[in-house]
Amino acid sequence: MKKQNGLPGMRVLILGGGGREHALYHRIVQSPLAEKVFVWPGNGLIPAEDRVDKPAITTDFTDLVGFLREHSIDCTVVGNETPLVHGVRDFIKSHMPAHWVFGPNKYAAQLEGSKAFAVEFLRAEKIPHGESVLATSLEEALKTLPKQELPLVIKADGLAAGKGVSIHHDFSSAQKQLERIFNEKIFGDAGKRVLLQRFLKGHEASLFALCNGTVALLLPVARDYKRALDGDAGDNTGGMGAYAPAGHLSEAHKAFIADKIIAPLLRHFQYRGLLYIGLMVGSERADDVAVVEFNCRFGDPETQSVLPLLEGDVLEYLLWCDGYPVQFPILEQNGVRYVPYRRGAVVNVVIAARGYPADFARGIPLFFPETNSKDTHIIGAGIEERDGRYFSTAGRIANVVAYGKSIEKARELVYGYLRRFQEANANCADQLYWRSDIAQNL
Ligand code: GLY
Repeated sequence: MKKQNGLPGMRVLILGGGGREHALYHRIVQSPLAEKVFVWPGNGLIPAEDRVDKPAITTDFTDLVGFLREHSIDCTVVGNETPLVHGVRDFIKSHMPAHWVFGPNKYAAQLEGSKAFAVEFLRAEKIPHGESVLATSLEEALKTLPKQELPLVIKADGLAAGKGVSIHHDFSSAQKQLERIFNEKIFGDAGKRVLLQRFLKGHEASLFALCNGTVALLLPVARDYKRALDGDAGDNTGGMGAYAPAGHLSEAHKAFIADKIIAPLLRHFQYRGLLYIGLMVGSERADDVAVVEFNCRFGDPETQSVLPLLEGDVLEYLLWCDGYPVQFPILEQNGVRYVPYRRGAVVNVVIAARGYPADFARGIPLFFPETNSKDTHIIGAGIEERDGRYFSTAGRIANVVAYGKSIEKARELVYGYLRRFQEANANCADQLYWRSDIAQNL
């Protein structure tokens, strides 16, 4: 059994199988504390002996607890929101009180699970956000629609696999969307309630904080590229790339966020796990930031760009969130605390199936050339492995991630690898695409 600082080796399970969970796996297997790491279900670029070959855990946790007992797992890291919103932490803790869980409880996870719940909290704490009206029927929504300003943001209240938010520049498209949500039920129960929200202008930034119930440690700020095509054209996707650190938030902004957003949230929820704050930064004025959304888990694809910047043992940081007795250096600047991080930058570009996020092919055969730099690595997402060969299974297939002393150096490594990847996959190049402008023209 591995031991570190007198602490026993840990058997860890990561729930999920996308790029975010693979990025967590990539760091956790390097931890001196980790004796064994499983990913359930994982993806084809994760070694087969570490994958749990079962359907992803979503809302039923009985089999999960059986697995934790059978494999003597000490710690579960929950990667994605669905199990958190359905109370996976509460369920595990009620059956196995001594088990370590990374992720908030069901009550706090409503910050992501219900946009109306999040707005209620933001309003109560007077935290800047896009003012909004809640509608519980089409009639109610259409009555209030003409009183709203354009452009208008329409948000389904519940989890909608990243598709529940749309922006409208005229009332007729807003009305059509409301009809689709309430009449055609395009988001199912997630669209039973809808927010009509003021559009916020500025630069988007994703800020992550690791929280242990009373203390929050910030991670480097990331920028996510949500649109499918270069120049932020095309449809909204789960994210086509990211880079970190992103310069949109100044030290003064971060001090404001720590004091006026994170501190009240910690007080109210005793929040444990990763708090993702999606922000709109209006100007350089410290208080000109507004919350776009909260998420109760790491972002994807931002995590792939943030984790390589962290110094130290990422598993220790995740365990710290649940009260595990570890000690590590904490950086402090202007009263804001940070996980130790290194200089330099990380760029991540997503390889996607052409047509994503609409119609796209699955089962595209893929070949990954060796990376020719120690600073470049490949993170899987919608990909499976069969007899040593790789095939796509989803729209976002893999991530090319590189660290560089500067953003430009990291970009050169990523796009240099992608040129070789394109040559190696020339026979199905027309079925693949990626953005060519991630971390460009900042
Ligand atoms: N990249 C956006 C998200 O993870 O929600």
